[in-house]
Amino acid sequence: MKKIGILGGTFSPIHNGHLYIAREAYTQLGLDEIWLMPVGIPPHKQQESSVTRYDRLSMCQLAVEGISYIRVREDEIHSDGANFTYQTLEYISEKYPEDSFYFILGEDSLRMFQSWVHPERIAAKATIVAALRSMDHEHKIRELKQLTQEYSSYYKSDFILLSTRFMDISSTRIRSFLSMPNQSTEKMEYLQNALPEGVRSYITEHHLYQMDGLEGLYDPKKEEKEMTYARIYKQIQKKLQKDLKPSRYQHTLGVAYTAASLAMTYGYPMETAYIAGLLHDCAKYMTPQELLKYCKNHKLPVTGSEKESPQLLHAKVGACKAKEDYGITREEILHAICYHTTGCPGMSLLDKIIFTADYIEPNRCEAPRLPEIRRTAFTNLDQAVSMILFDTIQYLKETGRSMDETTQETYEYYKKEVTL
Ligand SMILES: [Fe+2]
Ligand SMILES: [Fe+2]
Repeated sequence: MKKIGILGGTFSPIHNGHLYIAREAYTQLGLDEIWLMPVGIPPHKQQESSVTRYDRLSMCQLAVEGISYIRVREDEIHSDGANFTYQTLEYISEKYPEDSFYFILGEDSLRMFQSWVHPERIAAKATIVAALRSMDHEHKIRELKQLTQEYSSYYKSDFILLSTRFMDISSTRIRSFLSMPNQSTEKMEYLQNALPEGVRSYITEHHLYQMDGLEGLYDPKKEEKEMTYARIYKQIQKKLQKDLKPSRYQHTLGVAYTAASLAMTYGYPMETAYIAGLLHDCAKYMTPQELLKYCKNHKLPVTGSEKESPQLLHAKVGACKAKEDYGITREEILHAICYHTTGCPGMSLLDKIIFTADYIEPNRCEAPRLPEIRRTAFTNLDQAVSMILFDTIQYLKETGRSMDETTQETYEYYKKEVTL
């Protein structure tokens, strides 16, 4: 009987963070093997991007070359439909009835475990192993320990924690760096640290992720890959200047520059931050009626507070317009635009950058505590997010304006992260 760890995911691309988690699980739990199981077409995507499943598979194979305890399994990669985790686990445990399985997930996934499809069937087939990203927040460890105990008794199965050190590597950030045409030192350093060498060479050889998600702004035939970010910015700015009032356009530039500066501070690709900053208010010229009509036509859900104050919709509609009118399909940019007014629990680095830049850009002057928040933004971004949410909620309460539920939820989430 073998003890087998299962690490699933899109792996686009696989990086050293994945390999690190695999190694920790292998040693800490005394496993015999780790199976990497790249998914076929991810359930939330309808079609394959320019990087195909075969590219992802090849990169996984290159990444584990020379690591004897990791095997890349192709069970899921060929499937076109959504393969739910419970189906995969039932299938492999039937095929290998002698072995026991350890399903490895991240701490965010653990928190969401109950919303997975058939969590009880997942827990019945494997021990759930949650990789804790950092062990330095005592309250977080306590909370997660309690959660695993609750799950263990509820599902009558084992839920365990794996302590790992925080690694500042994410596939999203890797893709963002790779999409840049320039060869900055930050980019080279980040990629060197994040990717196994074989994967890096494969990406270079096959020109993967280049201009990913910005294809709408760029015609490879016409531009012969000569499109630079400077030209992309100009193209976006030209349209924005036509659509927005001059003061709004000035604000937009302020947000873009501030976002780029925050990106430089926190090691995020500044080009991506600049584009997201430029576009964050691209729907701000629309009237409440136009926003509501747009949502109706595009089947975008409208919450109670958005009905009350349709202006709130400019974020959601903005994300949609960035895609339709500006040809941006890069998920991280669209997400940051969508949540720039309310924030959301568990924001990405880019989400936090845009949210904060919108509040502190140089043309802003009316909010209280601005100098303090501006300083904090460049030293502790989570704390700045918390302060902005706190002040926004105070302001909305004092002026009797309606507040989106997400703002309160986000505040609750970030209040736990830092002390005000
Ligand atoms: Fe806005
Ligand atoms: Fe704004």
